[in-house]
Amino acid sequence: MSLVTVIVGAQWGDEGKGKWVDILAQSKHAIARYQGGNNAGHTLYIDGKKIVLHQIPSGIFHAEQICALLAGVVVNPAELVLEIEKIKTFGAHVNPSRLWLSARAHVITPWHIELDRRREQDSKNPIGTTKRGIGPTYSAKAARTGIRIGEYVDKDRRKHWISEMAAHDHAFASHFAEHRETWERFESAATELAPFVCDAEHQIRQMLKEGRKVLLEGAQGALLDIDHGTYPYVTSSNTAAGGAVASLGFNPHLVDQIIGVAKAYATRVGEGPFPTELHDEVGQHIAHVGKEFGATTGRARRCGWLDIVALRYAVEASGCHALILNKMDILNDLDTIKYCVAYQHPKLGKLTTFPWDAKILADCTPVYESVPGWKSELPDHDAAHALPQAAKAYIKRVEELVGVPVSMVGTGVARQHAIFIK
Ligand code: IMP
Repeated sequence: MSLVTVIVGAQWGDEGKGKWVDILAQSKHAIARYQGGNNAGHTLYIDGKKIVLHQIPSGIFHAEQICALLAGVVVNPAELVLEIEKIKTFGAHVNPSRLWLSARAHVITPWHIELDRRREQDSKNPIGTTKRGIGPTYSAKAARTGIRIGEYVDKDRRKHWISEMAAHDHAFASHFAEHRETWERFESAATELAPFVCDAEHQIRQMLKEGRKVLLEGAQGALLDIDHGTYPYVTSSNTAAGGAVASLGFNPHLVDQIIGVAKAYATRVGEGPFPTELHDEVGQHIAHVGKEFGATTGRARRCGWLDIVALRYAVEASGCHALILNKMDILNDLDTIKYCVAYQHPKLGKLTTFPWDAKILADCTPVYESVPGWKSELPDHDAAHALPQAAKAYIKRVEELVGVPVSMVGTGVARQHAIFIK
């Protein structure tokens, strides 16, 4: 049983990590989110009821486990307060002994949200962000002008930060003066969050010294990583597994299991190249059956065939030991299942590795292989042998091409819709 497991998205996000974190959390002592903010939407079905988590780790519905938001996360305080209230109505036990909010995490303020909105609105090349203030908050962190949770919950330090910002930035000062209600809500959330704020990284490291098992949960996916993704069409943090190490700050050798989660097809939200995107009725079918609408923004997700070149790259960039192939059931009705094994580029010819440049990727057309569809329902619980032969053949081909085992398969939305293969 591994000490530190990292769960990372192996595509452009929305792979269904939340469900798997919820399942794997059963055997862990702590679940900690390592990056992102309320741009994420992790959908869980608890006792048949759907709940979307944006900031709180997906282990919160287990009674005993500690849930933490680590230094690499950005936090929207007012939204986090609402989320805590919401999950309580779903029966989650939330108290400061089991929800730890890192004092080091940076705060998304109303000003950062405004900057995100303005940039998206005014830019000739919008990224298609979630407009949750993610980019500007990480920018402020890197520029060392941000405010961290530990300072935010201290009234004097928060007021000082606001007055310094207002003194140096007229646009900030106007926003602060003109949006009093929003800023008051932002400030009042500090009192409610203060009891949860702690040195979460130190406390998790202590747990590891005691041999307690920790799961580090990513948000988004490796192809949206600020360094390794399809820049600039990425989010503003290190979504790949390396981000987990930086966010917790610990001995990287302690990570002994890295699991990538990928859908059996591909989706993307927002702008950016997506070679296997489908604009036909198959794409519409996948979108409809897979309910491919953003859990955070409600935007329709772009859908396409599984891109093995991109997946292999994401697996490499995160050092995944194994893959979870999720939402296989969405392909149940299809006659043929295609998957992209190479790209054809007008100038560079055939590519079998993922290009560093989003411009190159945008000019690539996919080279497909295919397998026959299984045209039947998939078993909905732990019964790998019961998978139809054609589904097994698809999984085997994915394993061969990506180079890591598929250890679990998702065949439905609920906790029990999980097949453990290896
Ligand atoms: P931001 O993270 O809001 O700055 O958005 C940057 C890019 O990441 C956009 O293409 C978003 O659609 C995408 N993105 C952010 N969060 C998620 C997510 O949870 N799932 C899928 N895409 C996301």
